[in-house]
Amino acid sequence: MDQKLAARMAQIDAFEVMEIQTLAREVEAQGHDVIHLEIGEPDFRTPQPVIDAATRALQSKPMNYTSALGLMELREAIARFYRDRYGVDVPAARIVVTAGSSAALLLAFGVLLDAGDEVLLSDPSYPCNRHFVRAYGGVPRLCPVGADSRYQLTAPIARRHWNDRVRMVMVATPSNPTGTTLTAAEIADLAALAREKGVTLLVDEIYHELTYGAKPHTAVEVGEDVIVVNSFSKYFQMTGWRLGWLVVPPRLVRDVEKLAQNLFISPSTVAQHAALACFAPETLAIVEARRRELDERRKFLVPALQSVGFKVPVVPEGAFYVYADSSALAPDSFDLARRILREAHIAMTPGKDFGHHEPERHMRIAYTQPVARLQEAIRRLAAFFGGH
Ligand SMILES: Cc1ncc(COP(=O)(O)O)c(C=O)c1O
Repeated sequence: MDQKLAARMAQIDAFEVMEIQTLAREVEAQGHDVIHLEIGEPDFRTPQPVIDAATRALQSKPMNYTSALGLMELREAIARFYRDRYGVDVPAARIVVTAGSSAALLLAFGVLLDAGDEVLLSDPSYPCNRHFVRAYGGVPRLCPVGADSRYQLTAPIARRHWNDRVRMVMVATPSNPTGTTLTAAEIADLAALAREKGVTLLVDEIYHELTYGAKPHTAVEVGEDVIVVNSFSKYFQMTGWRLGWLVVPPRLVRDVEKLAQNLFISPSTVAQHAALACFAPETLAIVEARRRELDERRKFLVPALQSVGFKVPVVPEGAFYVYADSSALAPDSFDLARRILREAHIAMTPGKDFGHHEPERHMRIAYTQPVARLQEAIRRLAAFFGGH
């Protein structure tokens, strides 16, 4: 007899991007050169000063568990980063170091959600969010968003989807998959709405340092009742080190600590020592140069995609994604992504991963490849669409 599987698993979807990667590996095994524009991680190596700090720490520091809240030295360094970069004073006591922002999200939802509680999320949005909510028996309430709100969940849209079971509103700025941002005023409006309703606003700022226009504001400055999530994964190119952080209201620190002790004991000790080098001037110079390189790619890719028939109604100003409308090229992006992979050897992620609102009309294209590779991808796409 089959052993029982938890009912929630029926609601946990596979990551479509992983399926595309599996298919890409098959195409590569047939001897083809695949251009990978599906992956949500930078193609840069972790900055050398960070690697050197890790090596030194392995030789000289005890690799025991740290406090569940993280090394105080690192929490203080993150607090200084907020002061230096954004001019915001946030006490290190409100900063919790986590195993990537994934663990940060798991902790934030864990201390606030009961079964049946609802969380407002934008559709499209990062797929794991709705699964984190479901893991606690919560209900992700997906709010369709489009080009008119720059693919962001704003306060007026949140109001339209409100009901008595809503306990949290979550946004990401810049967003995955759209790369679009919320303005400081829009975040303030969301925070005001959350206060009015007595619920919590959670802002995912994992791509926050990767913006290409005006200097962004952080939601940390909106008020100490807002939860902010961030990570060393993207800007500091440390995806595999598994390190992120939360900024939490003072009243939640103890509960987050208790849950973190039980779920994770502590974040990775070697990764925390390495991350202390992230805020050194030499590391910041490296990651800032890479941010400028990502901007060059973005400036090339957006008009180039438009030239082969994709529509990009809102130019992304952050992260490393373009959420392109493929509806003029094919009716179903899921099928189109597979055909492009098999015939043009380019991997891109169909909209299906990111929600239910018009996924078949969209593709996420990640500019995590050098400009020369993006140029080659555009040549192949022009030939592919020219021949169809
Ligand atoms: C919007 C967003 N939030 C959170 C994460 C999780 O990242 P990590 O756990 O590596 O910090 C990702 C990863 O791609 C993401 O795109």
